[in-house]
Amino acid sequence: MTLNVNTLRPLSGTGRKLYIETYGCQMNVGDTEIVVSLMQREGYVYTERAEDADVVLINTCSIRDNAEQRIWGRLAEMRSLRKRRPGLVVGILGCMAERLREKLLEGASGVDVVAGPDAYRDLPRLVREAEAGGRGVNVLLSTEETYAEIAPVRLDRNGVSAFVAIMRGCNNYCSYCVVPYTRGRERSRDAATIVAEAQSLFDNGYREVTLLGQNVNSYRTGEVDFPELLRRVAEISPLLRVRFATSHPKDMSDRLLDTMASMPNICRSIHLPAQSGATTMLERMNRKYTREWYLGRIAAIRRWMPDCSITTDLIAGFSGETEEEHAQTLSLMREVGYDFAYMFKYSERPGTFAQRHLADDVPEEVKSRRLQEIIALQNELGLASYRRDVGREFEVLVEGESKRDARQLSGRTSQNKVVVFDRGSHRIGEYVRVRITGCTAATLFGEAIE
Ligand code: SAH
Ligand code: SF4
Ligand code: F3S
Repeated sequence: MTLNVNTLRPLSGTGRKLYIETYGCQMNVGDTEIVVSLMQREGYVYTERAEDADVVLINTCSIRDNAEQRIWGRLAEMRSLRKRRPGLVVGILGCMAERLREKLLEGASGVDVVAGPDAYRDLPRLVREAEAGGRGVNVLLSTEETYAEIAPVRLDRNGVSAFVAIMRGCNNYCSYCVVPYTRGRERSRDAATIVAEAQSLFDNGYREVTLLGQNVNSYRTGEVDFPELLRRVAEISPLLRVRFATSHPKDMSDRLLDTMASMPNICRSIHLPAQSGATTMLERMNRKYTREWYLGRIAAIRRWMPDCSITTDLIAGFSGETEEEHAQTLSLMREVGYDFAYMFKYSERPGTFAQRHLADDVPEEVKSRRLQEIIALQNELGLASYRRDVGREFEVLVEGESKRDARQLSGRTSQNKVVVFDRGSHRIGEYVRVRITGCTAATLFGEAIE
């Protein structure tokens, strides 16, 4: 099987022009590339300017209230754009479309198309309906759709690293989280199509793929589980780096760690969201592990791969959080010594278990103060982690020019840390051995060795 790398059709001025904007997680970024692929088949050409477009699509996120607020703001801007471009079709895709279909179509919202995450094959029809003056709506969730055989149009265009979706949906029902409701049941994509997509990326010069899902370690199709899939992708070439996100701590198996350790091109980097350091809190969150289990998995990672970086997600101020539970989150962070973390203030989401059964009872100023303490500690831990790398050597995959200085290149280590160094005769897409000479809390600076 082959799955060709799909490229953007050049703007020829004939076809109708499509502009698409993406919010939320990498899954959404991947979905946008599927949507562009599907719309290109129908003759639409992609444009980077909303002002030039005939069709504007917004791929949305519902994870926290502020994510949705941003999109309502964007929609208001689209309404004023429409005044200047009558006939403009505006569509809402993704998680917010799924969650707020009725509200999005109310009154003068200015929305013509609403398509949920499993309805993108239907999108050309929905847009045609809107172009004919109607409204196109499809928010049906599927138990099977994985867009397995659709070659995404790569919009990132660094030509070096790409995301490959391996599954969709989520069955975990963490009590605070909206994703199981917006994305539907978990399902895994056929393994052969994943390997074919990674192979074609490699053949086209890509040197890194990130396998994506809400909970990649529960991937399974037939006989192929996640460690096996990872091995098959990593076997494409020792020159192809393989990453994955996100892992759920409850499924972080020894078999996975063993597979990672046995193949040097599987990156030494694990994103393992803890959410909280207190077992009592983890129970309210329905995370299905304890603090001790989590720390046991961290110890296992360190045993198999002492050089592996560990990153996480943390939520401050979830229902009933006591000062003691918050202190346990801080102590967990110290104990693990995270290299990096995404840190959030709890935002109650309509329809979730927490919204229905648990009170959002931590006062706003307490949430903010706790989040600030978490951020301040992580800044400390992050800087310490980067400082430990000074004087060490790493293999860096070059991804592009440094944003600050075109005479410098920027790439990442296997541990996923950004490294900036003088270009010399090196090129994008190459592996370069770099000695680290300095750092900030988010970047390493170094010099090429050969
Ligand atoms: N599937 C992944 C991540 C999904 S969303 C996982 O389980 O790890 C990314 C992060 O957003 C979550 O890890 C969590 O930290 C955060 N998040 C999810 N729902 C939230 C909410 N209601 N309020 C604040 N943060 C939330
Ligand atoms: Fe949300 Fe939990 Fe699923 Fe992650 S595992 S997407 S946090 S329900
Ligand atoms: Fe947001 Fe949906 Fe992703 S809610 S984080 S875009 S799965």
